[in-house]
Amino acid sequence: MTALLNVTERDISHAAALLRAGELVAFGTETVYGLGADAQNARAVAAIFEAKGRPHFNPLICHYESADAVFAHVEAGDLARVLADTFWPGPLTLVLPRKVTCPVALLAGAGLETLAVRVPAHGVAQRLIAALGRPIAAPSANRSGGVSPTSAAHVLAGLNGRIAAVIECGPCRVGVESTVLDLSGERPFLLRPGGVNVEALEAAIGPVARGITPGQAQASRTLRSPGMLLSHYAPSLPLRMGAVSVAADEALLAFGAPLSGAGAMFQLSAEGNLNEAAARLFEGLHWLDGEGARLGLRGIAAMAVPETGLGFAINDRLSRAAAPRG
Ligand code: TXA
Ligand code: MG
Repeated sequence: MTALLNVTERDISHAAALLRAGELVAFGTETVYGLGADAQNARAVAAIFEAKGRPHFNPLICHYESADAVFAHVEAGDLARVLADTFWPGPLTLVLPRKVTCPVALLAGAGLETLAVRVPAHGVAQRLIAALGRPIAAPSANRSGGVSPTSAAHVLAGLNGRIAAVIECGPCRVGVESTVLDLSGERPFLLRPGGVNVEALEAAIGPVARGITPGQAQASRTLRSPGMLLSHYAPSLPLRMGAVSVAADEALLAFGAPLSGAGAMFQLSAEGNLNEAAARLFEGLHWLDGEGARLGLRGIAAMAVPETGLGFAINDRLSRAAAPRG
């Protein structure tokens, strides 16, 4: 059963304690309800994908208490600072490069070098983030493929029994998701239209590249959204899946009892736990790629991961990494 919490001090501390313990809590924001986890806890972030039933890892938005807290974790140029001054707290998400010291779980950003960040304007969201003392990673609180929820009842309709709690925050004021603006490239690029309109962004920072119709916006988002590109997350070493033996000049991505003989090994989960494996996947790919290069290995051999639950998303990511490079 999912607990229905209220906006009392006591319930918000309880919700923060649940998050601290690695549980999932849905909460209201000014846009839509978010399905929150401690962004610095990779197992908790993996549980988001499990609860939503997503067959692949999408990068999630991290919600912060203030712009200062955001800029401690990501690199911000002048445009990001102007936008933060103008639109935060509010329904604007910025995609910015992670700092090397950024403690947010790699899985929250689906292994990317950028992170989507925003400061929500909703009082409950702000109190919850402050009570946790860390950013909250949160996609919209619906099952994969479902409509974004704008009430606690919507959240329960999709996720009852799959998450620890939902905070009853009433209806969402904006009712559509935040605008997502990518500032990590050469020029600002609109990835998703939302609560802040693009004319307002342009009034603050000048031209923003975007598709003209929703269809074109979707197409450009598909092009830019790296998860959609077949080999984007590929490590530089070639990767093969379903390994049943491994050579001395290969690096092993192990799941369960490891194959012997590899030149380097990263264990996703010794006990074969899919949540743990998802939480460690991007760290493992980055680490093996680095070790492999350092030791002059010729490739990464990944052991089979079962096609159940989070295994679908793990195998989706591995097959992208295994795809031939163009
Ligand atoms: O209003 C909102 O934004 C709500 C509330 C809960 O804050 N959240 C939300 O999250 O809509 P979600 O996960 O449903 O959508 C996040 C969007 C996706 O389109 C995702 O691809 C994009 O942000 N995104 C996140 N990180 C990204 C990154 N590093 N690069 C490019 N796109 C990113
Ligand atoms: Mg969504």
